[in-house]
Amino acid sequence: MLEFIARKSLQQIPAELAHDLAIKALSSPFATLTGCTTKDNPVELMGIRFPNPVGLAAGFDKNGDAIKGLSAQGFGFIEIGTITPKPQAGNEKPRLFRLKPDQAIINRMGFNNKGIDHLVKQVKAAQFKGVLGINIGKNKTTANEDALKDYVHCFEKAHGLCDYITVNISSPNTPDLRDLQNDQALTDLLNGMKQAQLQAQQESEKYTPILVKISPDQTQEQLQFMTRQIIDSGMDGIICTNTTIARKDLQSPQALSEQAGGLSGAPLLSAANDTLQCVRQCAGSDFPIVAVGGIMSEEDAKEKMELGANLIQIYTGFVYHGSGLIRAINNALM
Ligand SMILES: Cc1cc2nc3c(=O)[nH]c(=O)nc-3n(C[C@H](O)[C@H](O)[C@H](O)COP(=O)(O)O)c2cc1C
Repeated sequence: MLEFIARKSLQQIPAELAHDLAIKALSSPFATLTGCTTKDNPVELMGIRFPNPVGLAAGFDKNGDAIKGLSAQGFGFIEIGTITPKPQAGNEKPRLFRLKPDQAIINRMGFNNKGIDHLVKQVKAAQFKGVLGINIGKNKTTANEDALKDYVHCFEKAHGLCDYITVNISSPNTPDLRDLQNDQALTDLLNGMKQAQLQAQQESEKYTPILVKISPDQTQEQLQFMTRQIIDSGMDGIICTNTTIARKDLQSPQALSEQAGGLSGAPLLSAANDTLQCVRQCAGSDFPIVAVGGIMSEEDAKEKMELGANLIQIYTGFVYHGSGLIRAINNALM
């Protein structure tokens, strides 16, 4: 009840302020008293035991400031980030918009974050016992030709502190970032990450799986190319998808629906599902896939699983419906 009132109140104030207040509340020592518990429904994937298949998607807790509070919301795993080597302010405000009639969000945050060193401190302090993913990116000022250095820098600092790493090359809000999904740039990046992963394994005797997060705005040919490259380079899984730059059939006023940035929530479901289906077909039945994009109900979650997802993640559905949705989905997937 308390959580319901808090969530409804946060929906009345500007979106980014509401988000910042939610993160503050979730990082307080009392945050573990809110939320919900879920029954065990374990999934074994990439050598990791996930207590349930429903995760928090990246971008909600970019800096790892609210891990403890989020751990009490019923998720089977939490992905923090996107984090970059250096702190950066992100794009000018306003940059976060709620499209309530569409059950959607548009954001053009631009990887606002406090940098990898801050995140490392937060993760160490949290002493989180659950499954943690760290999503990494490149600074805006780093040219694509030097992007590998940024990803490797973050990987080296983070791999010992988490269960998996996500390489984010699909945010629409960092100029040219999505070009890293193409041709030689993709091959070079993935081969470089594999090298860093194997080197880290030799030094620490810990193998940290790497997943690659892709966009829903690609053709089937591009998706097939990417999937093959991801598998051939020895990456461990794919997360599909990030937000979309497409706008179709939105009900919200144009002042909102035409904002630049990535669209998430209900209107993303169909494109994200098409992407998932294409990737699953190309990757075969055994390759790990985490599906995200547009899950707003138990039915949406079930559909992702039927299309071949091993795990799912949620962002916008959590913003609109809170931990009740996480509990309901977990019950439906039992
Ligand atoms: C405000 C906001 C910020 C986001 N930031 C990130 C991010 O930093 N890194 C990332 O990989 N995805 C980010 N995402 C994308 C989500 O992780 C997710 O892929 C997308 O929102 C689709 O899922 P959903 O429909 O459940 O929201 C962000 C999404 C939103 C709404």
